[in-house]
Amino acid sequence: MGTSVRFSVSLSEELLEKFDFLLGEKGYNNRSEYIRDLIRDAMVQREMETDKTVAGVITLVYDHHVRELTNTLIDLQHKSETEVISMMHVHLDHHNCLEVIIVRGQGHLVHQFADQLIGTRGVKHGKLVITSTGANLPR
Ligand code: NI
Repeated sequence: MGTSVRFSVSLSEELLEKFDFLLGEKGYNNRSEYIRDLIRDAMVQREMETDKTVAGVITLVYDHHVRELTNTLIDLQHKSETEVISMMHVHLDHHNCLEVIIVRGQGHLVHQFADQLIGTRGVKHGKLVITSTGANLPR
């Protein structure tokens, strides 16, 4: 890790109060760590919008009795331009399945792929969480 640099920030009292409130709610012990996390999160948000490689977690809840749905979801994964690193399938009850798919690829392609899966007829709920591969994030 490089050396730490100190810098000062000007904020209104009101904004600082809100910041400290948030910080407390989230369980941070000091402002610096929270600010570091906010900066890294902004960097990840930016990676998402570019052709940089990101990691993504896609969750899908669906009824496996819907005709052809399971096959469609598997086909989409085989054809995907993003790399499917791993997936887990859980049978929630007699009808419902939860699938967690971990992918790596360019931000916009990961979004596209998640949209395809989530938008497939019969998928009841889907979410994409994008995170960084960590490669471009300083500590
Ligand atoms: Ni199942």
